Amino acid sequence: MTDKELIEQIARVKKEKNAVILAHYYQVPEIQDIADYVGDSLQLSQLAAATNADIIVFAGVHFMAETAKILSPGKKVLLPDLEAGCSLASSAPAGQFAAFVNAHPDHKVVTYINCTAEVKALSDVIVTSSNALKIVESFPKEQKLIFAPDKNLGAYINGKTGRDMLLWDGACEVHETISTKRIINLKMQNPDALLVAHPECKAPVLIMADFIGSTAAMLKFTQQSDSKKFIVATETGIIHQMEKLSPGKEFLVVPADETCACNDCPYMKLNTLEKLYLCMVHEKPEIILSAELIEKAKLPIMKMLELSKNL
Ligand code: 13P
Ligand code: SF4
Repeated sequence: MTDKELIEQIARVKKEKNAVILAHYYQVPEIQDIADYVGDSLQLSQLAAATNADIIVFAGVHFMAETAKILSPGKKVLLPDLEAGCSLASSAPAGQFAAFVNAHPDHKVVTYINCTAEVKALSDVIVTSSNALKIVESFPKEQKLIFAPDKNLGAYINGKTGRDMLLWDGACEVHETISTKRIINLKMQNPDALLVAHPECKAPVLIMADFIGSTAAMLKFTQQSDSKKFIVATETGIIHQMEKLSPGKEFLVVPADETCACNDCPYMKLNTLEKLYLCMVHEKPEIILSAELIEKAKLPIMKMLELSKNL
């Protein structure tokens, strides 16, 4: 099938089956363009919790589809490629995390949404890069906190709030490779460009940034800014929406290193139009979770949604 035929067939099956397609900003442009909604982790969780569709097709990675299933357990949740994992989620195996949490009984557990359902079930509250600062600040200053699994986001929040959260030693392989050397080269060639960065980047990158925020926040910043040029320190998928929403502005990708042309998340980029179509036709791969796990993991996610109203 040509891409045009695939797009027509996806639209047909979607209507027949009353499905909704949710896509993360890091998906390839052709998937973003056929999705019903494109968003960041928080927006997609809110949409998954509120949808009337019978089937949620999650064009993203495994932890996102799992979160959708936890929030809408009565719906069928499909992930086009079950191999679409996340290096950050994998950096916190549930068994090791449980031991860490048990070793610090006086700490509350604040966990970034990029983690497995089992790790969510061990947490007091889930956060995303959109709401992490606000949610951490909702705890009394004297409350001891564990922050997991992203040490870069955790360190960034510690710096912003003056807290000393205990950080799990995890990181995103895509954001970790974004180098200051490459940014400096781009800055030298484009002195008029502003640097926007995702808080999963390492501290030396964040120190240089003109704006730090989630994918949705970066998108909004580039739309509202008077600047005409931006260096974008995150996964490349976001550039598609930036160009769509701010025609006439220029967006420069920070190359990951000498051997890599771009910062593509290898997991996000596993999804293709073909896989999307096939998963909708066959209604698999499907996310299946036990009722017990759903019940435990739902509490900290619902707490996040409650604390994120008006964001
Ligand atoms: P946000 O969608 O919260 O910006 O997170 C980015 C990310 O790395 C998702 O995996
Ligand atoms: Fe995970 Fe990083 Fe890919 Fe996001 S960009 S899904 S954090 S590996």
